[in-house]
Amino acid sequence: MTSEALQKARDFEAQYGPHIPDSERPAFHATPTIGWMNDPNGFSFYKGECHLFYQYHPYSIEWGPMHWGHLKTKDFIHWERLPCALAPDEEYDASGCFSGGAVELPDGRQLLMYTGVQRHHNAEGFLEDVQTQCVAIGDGVDYEKWGDNPVLDGEDLPEGGSTIDFRDPKVWRDKDGTFYAVIGNRTGDGSGSILLYRGMEDFKGELVRVLDRSRNQYGRMWECPDFFQLDGRHIILTSPQDMTPIGLEFHAGNGTMCLMGSYDPEKGFTRERVQAIDYGLDFYAPQTLEAPDGRRIMIAWMQNWDTAGAKPFHCRWFGQMTLPRELSIEKGRLYQRPVREIEAYRHSPVIHHHILVSGETNLPGIQGRMLDMIVTVKPMSPGSYRWFRLHVAKDGRHDTIIRYKPDESTVKIDRCRSGLPRDIVNTRSFLVSPRDGEIKLRVVLDRFSVEVFVNDGEAAATAVIYTRQEADAITFEADGQVLVDVEKYDLAFDGED
Ligand code: FRU
Repeated sequence: MTSEALQKARDFEAQYGPHIPDSERPAFHATPTIGWMNDPNGFSFYKGECHLFYQYHPYSIEWGPMHWGHLKTKDFIHWERLPCALAPDEEYDASGCFSGGAVELPDGRQLLMYTGVQRHHNAEGFLEDVQTQCVAIGDGVDYEKWGDNPVLDGEDLPEGGSTIDFRDPKVWRDKDGTFYAVIGNRTGDGSGSILLYRGMEDFKGELVRVLDRSRNQYGRMWECPDFFQLDGRHIILTSPQDMTPIGLEFHAGNGTMCLMGSYDPEKGFTRERVQAIDYGLDFYAPQTLEAPDGRRIMIAWMQNWDTAGAKPFHCRWFGQMTLPRELSIEKGRLYQRPVREIEAYRHSPVIHHHILVSGETNLPGIQGRMLDMIVTVKPMSPGSYRWFRLHVAKDGRHDTIIRYKPDESTVKIDRCRSGLPRDIVNTRSFLVSPRDGEIKLRVVLDRFSVEVFVNDGEAAATAVIYTRQEADAITFEADGQVLVDVEKYDLAFDGED
């Protein structure tokens, strides 16, 4: 049965969503039907199609009582809108249906598992959450909340686990059909941990173990965990809050982190390596799925809580998802590349080889705001340049810069002049692996964003931009002399020009 709160959200989005013209949105990045979007939820296959739910507040472009919005796609590029899936309409989720996952049940129905939030005044009079895990079951459009919710609560926590920060279940079925979930929590030392539960088929899982924990080393609460196998390694992804900076790897505030290691059912997870997931400005709460063809694909909120205050004027939607990315482990690192499906939308290639760049120049046929471009930069001779800059979304007053410094092996993304109406952090530098002054940058532009993939995916950096669409110049600039190869494709979509 559709509750009054859910019906109200569905009516609202059906009435006002269609008023937003396509040209006010990105062409191929997922956005909310109307209002606010944050984390991806329930990113999974159901009946052969990829479903993507999202944290949703339809009534304003600010975070509010969380609903679940709903999209689906056949190719990760073209998104079809479905009606709002969940509204906060029960006592146990009255303050919000927070993030979670989805999985197909053996009987063909779809299970959504989410965090129900109840907010109340504690003994000192402060507002405090109680977070529990809840489920809803449906057919891919309509969902019924389980009569026995919540299915996991304070009783299911390890000793010292916090009931205030117990959220974001990611649920999956193993090859042998067993259900598992990982859930973020805070331990007795106040910092984050990830809990592994098993046997969710009767929706009441049992705690297997604490999979890994921060010990106050990598931020405090660990939000939105994910856990999977990739190229022979076990991988945990999580989004820690209140990070302290570590070199160029982690910055202060909300970050993202990939923990790489091995998992033994007896001994648990052994962490061997830690890296940031995305080195740009706008990336948080990633979630992955395993596609039917075996690819591990990740999508994330293309924002960050520290950047989400900088909204363009007059927008009727806010928040978008990254381009889904294919993951792999190469040379001991997490690699990510845009899903290959994007290549079907490429047209009008423009290719330049061995162009000498010294000072700033543009190249015939290279401009645009909706494109996929690969730029390879080589020194003329060892040490022939101090830096190389790629300027995109440029006009007389604006540009977004991707800069490489060979002596430091750093890439910097700079969106100081990219139309943001607030003075927030707008630059980020990160290390790439040295290649004798050679670097390959793949840049995907979609009206309001720049996603950069370095050296075939060894590092990614993402930034939202609000530069006016007419600013579509692209230039190449070197302090010294470089040789540049450029391969540029425009991206075209039905109903879009
Ligand atoms: C992460 C997060 C989650 C929570 C959701 C609420 O961005 O804080 O931990 O479930 O957003 O919208």
